[in-house]
Amino acid sequence: MEKMEKIVSLCKRRGFIFQGSEIYGGLSGMWDYGPLGVALRDKITALWWKHFVLDREDMYGIDAALIMNPVVWKASGHVDGFSDPLVECDKCKRRFRADQIKDLKICSECGGKLSEPRQFNMMFKTFIGASEDEAGTVYLRPETAQGMFVNFKNILDTFHPKLPFGMAQMGKAFRNEISPRDFLFRVREFEQMEIEYFIRESEWEKYFEYWRSEMKKWIADIGLKSSNIHELEVPEGERAHYSKRTIDFEYTFPFGRKELYGLAYRTDFDLKSHQTTSGVSLEYYDPSVDGQAGGGERFIPHVIEPTFGIGRTILAVLCESYDEDELGGETRAVLRLPKNLAPVSVAVFPLLKNKEGLVSKAREIYKMLKKESISVTFDDNGNIGKRYRRQDEIGTPYCVTVDFETLENDTVTIRDRDTGEQKRVKAGEIISAIR
Ligand code: GAP
Repeated sequence: MEKMEKIVSLCKRRGFIFQGSEIYGGLSGMWDYGPLGVALRDKITALWWKHFVLDREDMYGIDAALIMNPVVWKASGHVDGFSDPLVECDKCKRRFRADQIKDLKICSECGGKLSEPRQFNMMFKTFIGASEDEAGTVYLRPETAQGMFVNFKNILDTFHPKLPFGMAQMGKAFRNEISPRDFLFRVREFEQMEIEYFIRESEWEKYFEYWRSEMKKWIADIGLKSSNIHELEVPEGERAHYSKRTIDFEYTFPFGRKELYGLAYRTDFDLKSHQTTSGVSLEYYDPSVDGQAGGGERFIPHVIEPTFGIGRTILAVLCESYDEDELGGETRAVLRLPKNLAPVSVAVFPLLKNKEGLVSKAREIYKMLKKESISVTFDDNGNIGKRYRRQDEIGTPYCVTVDFETLENDTVTIRDRDTGEQKRVKAGEIISAIR
């Protein structure tokens, strides 16, 4: 099996990620997160929020509605410009992205004739209220960014921040991708973590470089090797309509080197456009600059945007962590996840399931670890070797086993996921040994 197939299969088998609506044959571009997927995602998003919002003094976190006034998307340029070139087969009716196929005339699936390319808008439409007509049309947001631009004035008015400062948001985004593919890589419903960092125009290059290096620090923090990361300077003509400079951080996925994150200089495009369209001033006022009549200076800030896809982060972390090795004469699959991201940090086992003394002691240790807010699981299913393999596959860094010696001298074994080595420690010292 190819590495990607093995990862998809592990995700399903162990309860990380399932095909969306699976019992009905699935729905293309949709995936559901199981308990371990939720735990992994929550650890990544909590770390991101701490890293970029809680640990900083210049960041304002928000959570805007998924559905916004449709004029937002007119002003942002998405109604007119957020499209991909589409071609359709006249025989099998399959649709392809014209910029992703080699032969623009013949269908690769059935040999039918392909249509001329036409622009296909990727925003999902729905209706608000009772009327299902043009007037009631709204869109599911294709990026979280606009939620921040339309709340810019609210942040100015309520917190009076000084430039430079940022707004951050994480949440769902929807795109009606023409050809979803590669597991979590290109899907139709996904999550983003985005920052809009407001600056003076004269400082855009300095802050572009600053965020470039902050993004690299984050990438290292989640355990992605720098040798798997490539920075691509996106040429003019391929950049989004709002961007004057974009760098894509690409990751070497098993299916090729592809965009993981993006960093864009969005200029004052969005705020200016929302100001013009809404008629509401989105200017920043700096009273300390004596630049204009009456003192102070009013201007529309420029924006640097670091953007991170959550699904692609999870996928890159899984690809980086997946490994197979020989342990105890057997081949095992192991997720070498960074310890702070593992969905389960510690698994506690009684050596045997039906020995009351072992089970009650193991339960006691399990409860003690849970009380300390350590993500812990209890497992007494199958033989101990199988339990170790299961935990290796989901990336649990430590397994604590209660055995007969525990009953004699109150010690347990702690097994390390990466080496398989076991250390015997006092039951009361488990937490310090792990930490
Ligand atoms: N606000 C800017 C913006 O949305 P983007 O490059 O279109 O820029 C940002 O998207 C990030 O969102 C990407 O770098 C990627 O991580 C993620 N992303 C975009 N489209 C996606 C899709 N169809 N499936 C999964 N993730 C996606």
